[in-house]
Amino acid sequence: MQIIHSIRDMRAWRALHNDVAFVPTMGNLHAGHLALVAAARQQARHVVVSIFVNPLQFGVNEDYSRYPRTLHQDAELLQQAGADVVFAPDVTEIFPVPQSYHIALPPLADELCGAFRPGHFQGVATIVMKLFNIVQPRLAAFGKKDYQQLAIIRGMVADFALPVELLAGETMRAPDGLALSSRNGFLNDDERRTAPQLHAALSDIKTGILLGAQDFTQLERHAAEQLAANGWQVDYVAIRNSQLAIADADTKQLVVLAAARLGQTRLIDNLEIERP
Ligand code: PAF
Repeated sequence: MQIIHSIRDMRAWRALHNDVAFVPTMGNLHAGHLALVAAARQQARHVVVSIFVNPLQFGVNEDYSRYPRTLHQDAELLQQAGADVVFAPDVTEIFPVPQSYHIALPPLADELCGAFRPGHFQGVATIVMKLFNIVQPRLAAFGKKDYQQLAIIRGMVADFALPVELLAGETMRAPDGLALSSRNGFLNDDERRTAPQLHAALSDIKTGILLGAQDFTQLERHAAEQLAANGWQVDYVAIRNSQLAIADADTKQLVVLAAARLGQTRLIDNLEIERP
């Protein structure tokens, strides 16, 4: 496995290797990332994993500076997982001058997480486009835990006719249901014990819907109130269709999504729901 830091070296490697699957990450890898690498490995001859904490997708008061940077440990995990290349540029390599061109996104980018993190998805889309242009993968893997991110990247790939096939990886969970996330490491012991309540709230909604509940607003409100009563600061609980548009009583493929904070840590999660 090679660790490549410059765009020039990444392009030189790419010129000699075809059939590349790409797993973009911000590092501090967990089993969810490694499952994406394993899935990518099955679908392509070569796997490139990027590790880049992208400043464009963090708001001014967000956790960019304290986001965990664990390249050495990540590289060991990726070596075991069978990645061919770790592309780990530093910020000045990717942004030698401040980025002045950005991807303009549809209204979905300002809803759900976008309503609480202005500019976040534009920052994600811009770096993903840039990484795609550097790595030029045939296939790229993203986790369903970032469901809205995946929807936006899907839209971008379709709208710009990008020659990249997308692979969506299932959310990996701790035994108590908590979705694996690099941000879980920020939780103190008390918060970690409370954190599975987010998944539990979504599971309750899923069960309610599968048992026939139709009043989505009431389900969303009840879950948000329960979480708030347990000390969460809730950004949203929302039931949408699988494309993240407003769902109605006839929609078969739904997703329930939530974002909420425990102390300083913002967690997100979602569950897909297939109605009979
Ligand atoms: O999901 C992530 O880790 C990031 O948003 C991504 C896709 C690597 C872009 O920085």
